Amino acid sequence: MPVDPVIRPMRLEDVPDVERLTAEGFFELDRRTYARSWPEPTLRSDRAAAAWQRRIQHTLQHDPGGCWVAEDDAGLVGVAASLKRELMWILATFVVRPGEQGRGVGRQLLDAALSYGRGCLRGMLSASADPKAARRYRLAGFTLHPSMFMSGTVDRSTLPVVERVREGSTSDIDLMNSVDRRVRDSAHGVDHELLTSMYRLVVVDRSTGSGYAYVEPSGGPYLLAATNRRTATDLLWETLATSSPDEQCSIDHLTAANEWALDVGLEARLDLHTNGYLALRGMRPPSPYIHSGHFL
Ligand SMILES: CC(C)(COP(=O)(O)OP(=O)(O)OC[C@H]1O[C@@H](n2cnc3c(N)ncnc32)[C@H](O)[C@@H]1OP(=O)(O)O)[C@@H](O)C(=O)NCCC(=O)NCCS
Repeated sequence: MPVDPVIRPMRLEDVPDVERLTAEGFFELDRRTYARSWPEPTLRSDRAAAAWQRRIQHTLQHDPGGCWVAEDDAGLVGVAASLKRELMWILATFVVRPGEQGRGVGRQLLDAALSYGRGCLRGMLSASADPKAARRYRLAGFTLHPSMFMSGTVDRSTLPVVERVREGSTSDIDLMNSVDRRVRDSAHGVDHELLTSMYRLVVVDRSTGSGYAYVEPSGGPYLLAATNRRTATDLLWETLATSSPDEQCSIDHLTAANEWALDVGLEARLDLHTNGYLALRGMRPPSPYIHSGHFL
């Protein structure tokens, strides 16, 4: 007889299994979603898996009450990890093992993570295209904003000269927190300490506008925030200039509130696609802003 999974707090020793579970869950989702079109699903590279583990360890360290797993006799069945930053609740990851989905495990995990966010005025999560996920989020009161992404190789001839952007460091964390508060009402706080150690950081700090972007190793933004569109546009071009001429680059997590970013991507001759939603509670889609999937 199969045993119902138990919902319990995540522990540090769960992290490798949690990483594998999420990699399998998203691989299977991509395989179903994109079976007949680009992109081909791929399992995470060793580098991506290690980065994923660092992000979840950091979340578990700072928000142990927001991180939950479901477990049965055979091991981990599901995970929901969430964080709180200045009255903002953020869902970092949410997956149930393929084959065990659609039986109510996700609802129990999400309820546990949501209860950690009780009292928060705002909520944010990056929703996949899975109809089961969309159903859960809407039933939990989130507004679903359809999301787009752009991909391809950057046409180098379109890259402008960007003059106001400089390299950033941990000494820019106060600046970044104040940009965050202005654009999305809450600062990333301790998450900047991790992100500055994981990603290249570029910054604009002028009287005419300020902002920052963390750059993906393959180019494109991991997270970008700015006080106006011109500054955001400069930062986005800088992240695209980092891409290599023969490697795929992407700009993920674009909402219709960020058409300035679509215009940059189209000019760089990237292709535009739709995928999932930005799900929000108590707030409008931030702009100019390109959110991170984990720290939003
Ligand atoms: C999203 C996910 C975590 C939800 O976990 P789950 O255990 O499947 O969730 P539940 O069974 O509690 O809820 C799923 C809901 O969708 C319904 N459902 C089941 N199969 C469905 C289908 N094929 N299409 C639409 N809805 C479906 C269920 O009836 C249930 O709704 P109800 O409780 O109102 O009856 C899980 O499906 C998953 O891992 N998906 C792939 C990864 C993913 O997209 N994660 C979300 C990242 S944002």
